Amino acid sequence: MAIYEFETRTIYMTKQETFQLEFENHVIEGLKAFPKFLSSKYIYDDRGDELFQQIMALPEYYLTEAEYNIIDSYKDNLRKVFNTHGAFDLIELGAGDGKKTKVLLKELVTNKVDFTYIPIDISQHAIDELTNSLTTLLPDLEVQGEQGTYFKVLERLATYNKRPKIIIVLGSNIGNLDHPQAIEFLKKIKDVMSDQDFLFMGFDQKKDPLTIQHAYADSQGVTQEFNRNLLHRINKEMDGNFPVNNFEHWESYDPETGTAKSYLIAKEPCDVEIKKLKLKTTFKKWETIHCEISQKYDDDTVEWLANQSGLKIEMIYEDHQKLFKDYLFKIKK
Ligand code: AVI
Repeated sequence: MAIYEFETRTIYMTKQETFQLEFENHVIEGLKAFPKFLSSKYIYDDRGDELFQQIMALPEYYLTEAEYNIIDSYKDNLRKVFNTHGAFDLIELGAGDGKKTKVLLKELVTNKVDFTYIPIDISQHAIDELTNSLTTLLPDLEVQGEQGTYFKVLERLATYNKRPKIIIVLGSNIGNLDHPQAIEFLKKIKDVMSDQDFLFMGFDQKKDPLTIQHAYADSQGVTQEFNRNLLHRINKEMDGNFPVNNFEHWESYDPETGTAKSYLIAKEPCDVEIKKLKLKTTFKKWETIHCEISQKYDDDTVEWLANQSGLKIEMIYEDHQKLFKDYLFKIKK
């Protein structure tokens, strides 16, 4: 529960209500701004999760397969590195469906490594699903799912548990943050790490711009539906009337900065009213809503981010097609 002070009254809100209020304030800010923006963070309701699963299965979306290849190829090495100081907690930020993590967990369990797997997710449902499937797949695995926001749970774990921590963040989630936000994110992780702990994190790499362009503008239009889910959510949850099909997805990758940006663009002028927010706005023909960045990296940029955050790179793992990398970090002394 979060506590908000409004004048002299104290209002207690559930996490769900807090998140909804944050979403509503964000919509007001983003649609009143020029140019307009809405964060991709709000795409993920059940339908958004399902569309992201579909994206991960697309042939153009190389990221998932590439990281799977890294974990599968280096699982033996990872097992030895993670086990450097004996028994440990393997803490994963974002439970997901665990396809890539399962390869690693299987390697650890099969080799009788002493560890506890702690997936952290905001959704209890995601944790329960993952725990159930793992109990069937790996009955000997010790799982202790933790529901909550990453940093609250990490802080709690860091205070009561002194076992070495291996924190893993798979996928390219850090790519959805700009550099200052990414540094803040890494710093928060660093703050709960001790000398013996490791952070293992995925960073999608700069590459042939067309490969990136296709990954984010797929031929089946799944990414378009994924982005449009933001507008569907506003219509459904805030009584809005976005003519969703009037908004076309556009992806633009800048090879100089390594930033892929996605937009929704109004094909025709339209008026939009969001009753719950008492908000009216208009779109000119070809007006944009910026929805997401997916930052692509190289070693120098990751090293710079690490430096800024008080971390240092210990090891770099790359897939066989040289598309994606996972970096192993420790605290910088
Ligand atoms: C979740 N995140 C890492 C994905 C990405 O690659 O930026 C979200 C995504 N957006 C379009 N396709 C996938």
